Amino acid sequence: MKRGVRRWAVVPAAGRGERFGGSLPKQYVPLLGRPALSWSLAALLAEPAILGIMVAIAPGDRRFARLPEARDPRVRSCPGGARRELSVANALAALAGEARDEDWVLVHDAARPCLHPDDLRALLEVVGEDAVGGLLALPLSDTLKAADPRGCSARTLPREGLWRALTPQMIRYGVLRRALALSIERDRPVTDEAAAVEALGMRPRLVPGRADNIKVTQPEDRTMAEAILAARGAGSAHRTRLRRPRV
Ligand code: CTP
Ligand code: MG
Repeated sequence: MKRGVRRWAVVPAAGRGERFGGSLPKQYVPLLGRPALSWSLAALLAEPAILGIMVAIAPGDRRFARLPEARDPRVRSCPGGARRELSVANALAALAGEARDEDWVLVHDAARPCLHPDDLRALLEVVGEDAVGGLLALPLSDTLKAADPRGCSARTLPREGLWRALTPQMIRYGVLRRALALSIERDRPVTDEAAAVEALGMRPRLVPGRADNIKVTQPEDRTMAEAILAARGAGSAHRTRLRRPRV
């Protein structure tokens, strides 16, 4: 990795988790006893190359300040927006004055608590050499169907060359600010940073990531996320830390 280039992280955590349902926004749902957002932040904090993390939280959110990770000097928060890209744009604006155009920003969903350190390292190494940026992604493995208006399978689509976009997505600060500003100004909603950057005619690199970097979206994803974290021994390490008496 190049020396002198700085890396920031932005974590959009201002969503309402409508598909997940329940009374608690999904970023605060406990996984093995620890809120999903804590897991996502801890995965980023474990990487010393990341200088600071800006978390976009919903206005009036009182849960964030109670997370242990919120007390880390590298972590700060700002108000999120009504859509994901508005939350990310707010976080980028909150970093203005500190982040330089050529710095890297890694945008990582609060709802992806299972980011593996190897994936994060691979992204930093592969994209660190790229002019534009890149994202963790996964080649499609299922067969794709096009539905007719009655909800029946009308056609089978080729899946060659198709990828699912994951996070983190690592883009130069200046490029990402410009890309999101344009999407917002033209009122062309995007569901990830790469889409905004593609609209500028740039091509972020696809970095193959692990399939277990899931986004907690539906209620059943919670069981899956807990199983993934437990299989890594992450839960027991966390519980041991919790039990350790203060000296
Ligand atoms: N997000 C955000 N601000 C928004 C909407 C989403 O910061 N206005 C964040 C979410 O908190 C989440 C990430 O963007 O970490 C990915 O979005 P998604 O999975 O769609 O989460 P929600 O929007 O909360 O869920 P849903 O679409 O089911 O309501
Ligand atoms: Mg959403």
